[in-house]
Amino acid sequence: MVKICCIGAGYVGGPTMAVIALKCPEIEVVVVDIAAPRINAWNSDHLPIYEPGLDDVVKKCRGKNLFFSTDVEKHVAEANIVFVSVNTPTKTQGLGAGKAADLTYWESAARMIADVSKTDKIVVEKSTVPVKTAEAIERILTHNRKGINFTILSNPEFLAEGTAIADLFKPDRVLIGGRETPEGQKAIHALRDVYAHWVPVDRILCTNLWSAELSKLAANAFLAQRISSVNAMSALCEATGADVSQVSHSIGTDSRIGPKFLNASVGFGGSCFQKDILNLVYICECNGLPEVANYWKQVIKVNDYQKTRFVNRVVSSMFNTVSGKKIAVLGFAFKKDTGDTRETPAIDVCKGLLGDKAKLSIYDPQVSEDQITRDLAMKKFDWDHPAHLQPLSPTSNKQVSVVWDAYEAIKDAHGICILTEWDEFKNLDYKKVFDCMQKPAFVFDGRNVVDVNKLREIGFIVYSIGKPLDSWLKDMPAVA
Ligand code: NAD
Ligand code: UDX
Repeated sequence: MVKICCIGAGYVGGPTMAVIALKCPEIEVVVVDIAAPRINAWNSDHLPIYEPGLDDVVKKCRGKNLFFSTDVEKHVAEANIVFVSVNTPTKTQGLGAGKAADLTYWESAARMIADVSKTDKIVVEKSTVPVKTAEAIERILTHNRKGINFTILSNPEFLAEGTAIADLFKPDRVLIGGRETPEGQKAIHALRDVYAHWVPVDRILCTNLWSAELSKLAANAFLAQRISSVNAMSALCEATGADVSQVSHSIGTDSRIGPKFLNASVGFGGSCFQKDILNLVYICECNGLPEVANYWKQVIKVNDYQKTRFVNRVVSSMFNTVSGKKIAVLGFAFKKDTGDTRETPAIDVCKGLLGDKAKLSIYDPQVSEDQITRDLAMKKFDWDHPAHLQPLSPTSNKQVSVVWDAYEAIKDAHGICILTEWDEFKNLDYKKVFDCMQKPAFVFDGRNVVDVNKLREIGFIVYSIGKPLDSWLKDMPAVA
């Protein structure tokens, strides 16, 4: 009987293993984590992450062939296949700080696997790691134990948050990389058999280890690059009177370009894009490829520029100061349908506005006040070390209030910043909103969700990323 253990019950480990358990009823799947509160939540009615469809999947298999436990060593020892899905954040200190991946969590998991194993195991890299990590992990695994065979595979995860269950049910592809040795190929087949329960075999791609590891970094870099490209265009649209939605549609109909991932925004966020590109940049630099490193660095620079540009637009439109003004922030998560705030552009935008002494009233349907307070107090890159283990900042920021209703956030505000594209922000009663705001009433739409013309008819001064500017905004000083 195949027994799977997954180390790391996070955004990837939890949903991925739940879907494997659902699709492979004869396989026992145990997800383990050192964080007891996370495991307790997985065993409760309030799962630790919000993901559409996840509750259903977990309810169907939990207690049957899906288990969540803090008894890490026991379940690792019993498994034939061990997935490692721990966090691999950006290093904050020492060599490569601010760029390189911090493999502390991965290394400690590998050492523990080596220590507790009494039988042969396939060890699967599920976390996103620098290319060649498998080689280092192999050394750790084989160093401590004689007579036990560990075969390492790379099986990066491509799910996106908010659509994780749909992505896992019907992936574009599953990628499995392994050594080109008989043991490596045997392990690839064993893992392919697991996925083949529901993924058509022609969508299961098998490569060598390094191609699989690098493909994950490359995929995220390409996706993020598309967003930075369209965001760079959005700045030019605002300067020229072109409309970025029309430009996106026009170029997206070219089948070589395609329509997806061309939505201009206040900037991309999430736990992966920035971290993985920085990691790629570091690897290029270490391999003596500074030109390649600089090319990818630019994707991050444009993303940072887009967030700064948004803040500058808000401040310059409101008579060059937001000091003491109430700004309603609608949406804090890095995208809709998730409560995840890791690297959300909302953090940088809120910090920028707070730097100009604004008073913020923040509403997000899935993000708690504790989380927002913690995020706004945290230093760059500290969020993933891991966020749920970090203490709450003792002093809460008096410039910030967090409320549980959009209208409450908006009441008496001078301006609204839409920072996440939650559907409910499209359907607010904007006449009612206008009536309860200070005048002139501003809307800064960082996600292109509002009907600009309709809002202008009501009386709002509207800024929407990459759209032709309101005459009011045209008269304001240029935004750098
Ligand atoms: P996460 O922080 O949500 O979960 C990681 C979990 O690992 C945490 O709960 C932590 O407590 C646990 N952990 C750390 N060290 C451990 C140890 N030694 N033993 C047991 N548990 C340990 O992270 P995530 O978002 O699930 O990401 C995991 C990996 O997957 C990262 O490498 C990430 O880059 C990659 N990834 C993430 C996504 C995504 O959408 N979040 C998508 C694809 C790939
Ligand atoms: C990403 C990758 O898509 C996924 O394959 C990988 O496994 C993990 O990283 P995720 O970060 O969960 O997934 O969400 P994604 O949908 O990629 O969005 C990332 C950010 O880009 C969000 O802030 C989103 O709002 C933004 N975005 C996305 C845009 O600004 N415009 C777009 O057109 C698409």
